[in-house]
Amino acid sequence: MAESRKLNILGIESSCDETSVAILSDDEVKINFISSQHFHRTYGGVVPELSSRAHLQIVKPLVESALKSANINLSEIDLITATAGPGLIGALLVGLTFAKGLCYSLNKPFIAVNHIEGHIFSGFLMESKPEFPMLVLVVSGGHTLLLYIENELKIFLLGTTVDDAAGEAFDKVSKLLGFGYPGGPQIEINAAKGDQNSIKFPVADLKDQYNFSFSGLKTAVLRYVQKNYSNGNIPNFDLQNISASFQKALVDALIQKTYLALNNFKVKSLSLVGGVAANKNLRDEFNNLADKYKIPCVIPSLSFCGDNAAMIALRGYQLYQTGIRDNLRVKPYASIPENHFLRMKTG
Ligand code: KG4
Ligand code: ZN
Repeated sequence: MAESRKLNILGIESSCDETSVAILSDDEVKINFISSQHFHRTYGGVVPELSSRAHLQIVKPLVESALKSANINLSEIDLITATAGPGLIGALLVGLTFAKGLCYSLNKPFIAVNHIEGHIFSGFLMESKPEFPMLVLVVSGGHTLLLYIENELKIFLLGTTVDDAAGEAFDKVSKLLGFGYPGGPQIEINAAKGDQNSIKFPVADLKDQYNFSFSGLKTAVLRYVQKNYSNGNIPNFDLQNISASFQKALVDALIQKTYLALNNFKVKSLSLVGGVAANKNLRDEFNNLADKYKIPCVIPSLSFCGDNAAMIALRGYQLYQTGIRDNLRVKPYASIPENHFLRMKTG
């Protein structure tokens, strides 16, 4: 029997400060171009208006060069996908409108992808794919979510953060220590040279068993700095110790909740995704945890941890395979729609 032809999928991501364009052949990544807006560093955070303008400048040339590098033309694309939210509305509007314009003019099917769902299933970009049911921890700049995934369409939310997201905590502590934005990589570099047991920072353990809270940890770091360095001059050795101790406290909290979920849910795989999943300590601890439970752990390679269009194209492909099609009236949205994920009774 002749094999069915593979689908060419174009993905566009523009939810925050990365413009990304990917081309997949079914679930195989051919191209994953990421153009990061480094200029936001000057401002200590993402400036929405500047972000939209930068997306606008780069999206068309990036799509053109992705097609050229993949050696295919637009007429050979079978499915067009773009991030619809959550994210910055102006930024989302650029990628989403561009994708919808292509679909309209070329009469191609369209799938609007939820950015968080893109992260959730990004483990499927790897060669050895996760197996359902799986437990996923999403740790990004805007979200910290613990999820039980029964299959492509049944996503149960177990817990989330009640205040700061994990990446946000990294970014805020980094700012406080004078490292700048984005904070995660800077904290990680400094933490590697420090003693993670030098300072005991507390992490809230919430009654709602799978929820997280990181604002207390951030405040504890602030108090420590104010108490010990009222002049604002923190010596290098202590910048490194604070970074290491903060990172340990945050990683411990993430591991604790995942451990709890692994005890209560029988799963066939574990996955760690999102920008903070680039953190080596966290990756190591996650792998150790999965080893203990003797289940495979899938953590995307670094280019699929931060924002990227490959995960958007892949999620679009999964939805397309289930028969879903979106119309071109889809609007961008800033936050995850309420009750978007299923809720599981967690006792
Ligand atoms: O998923 P992502 O690229 O964007 C969002 O959807 O938010 O995540 C960005 C977040 C930032 O907060 C950044 O500081 C954090 O990921 N991050 C890290 C590391 N690399 C990026 N956090 C800890 N360690 C890292 N190596
Ligand atoms: Zn993201």
